Amino acid sequence: MSKKFNFFKEAIATAKTSGTLVPSSRFLADRMLKGIDFEATNLIVELGPGDGAITKHLLQRIGPNTTIICFEINENFYNELQKIEHPQLVVLMESAENIESEIEKYGFEKADYIVSSLPLSIIPKEISMNILNTSHQVLKDDGKYIQFQYSLNYLKKLKDVFGKDNVKVQFEAINIPPAFVYQCSKN
Ligand SMILES: C[S@@+](CC[C@H](N)C(=O)[O-])C[C@H]1O[C@@H](n2cnc3c(N)ncnc32)[C@H](O)[C@@H]1O
Repeated sequence: MSKKFNFFKEAIATAKTSGTLVPSSRFLADRMLKGIDFEATNLIVELGPGDGAITKHLLQRIGPNTTIICFEINENFYNELQKIEHPQLVVLMESAENIESEIEKYGFEKADYIVSSLPLSIIPKEISMNILNTSHQVLKDDGKYIQFQYSLNYLKKLKDVFGKDNVKVQFEAINIPPAFVYQCSKN
């Protein structure tokens, strides 16, 4: 029997890139995914899936024509995600900085939605800004970037990238720790 994966242990060992100690709750996952039109979606990109706390909710909701491409840099999380083995799920051990070139390899030019759990405030600023600008660029015109964070640190930077009126902030209390959800529309 395979050993149960210990998220807490992995998160402690890689605190500088994981940015949390426990996986997201189903309440946070629901809030993140509420604004997605699952009927009319070709490509959803997930950034920082960890061991799949949000990925599994995405998989439960997608239609038959949707592909999910995940970007995860942690090898142990990547190995856990590989075990999901869903025909519509592509798991890459790649930094979110490479969205554009990687989705092209799978025949996509643009994404409908980008769902991100990246710990923006602990990633070096140059990298996090590169990821936000690239995300904006690869989204379809009616696409959305959905991000959770435990603070409001990145609100201004998200508004700089997506436009002041295009960023809506929500709050989810039933999560450890409670989290802010940013729904950013491209237009
Ligand atoms: C806060 S955890 C979120 C895990 C999971 N999505 C959840 O909600 O429970 C953040 C994840 O982002 C990943 N990560 C950090 N920097 C990254 C990068 N540049 N590209 C892709 N993943 C990254 C970490 O390895 C970690 O798995």
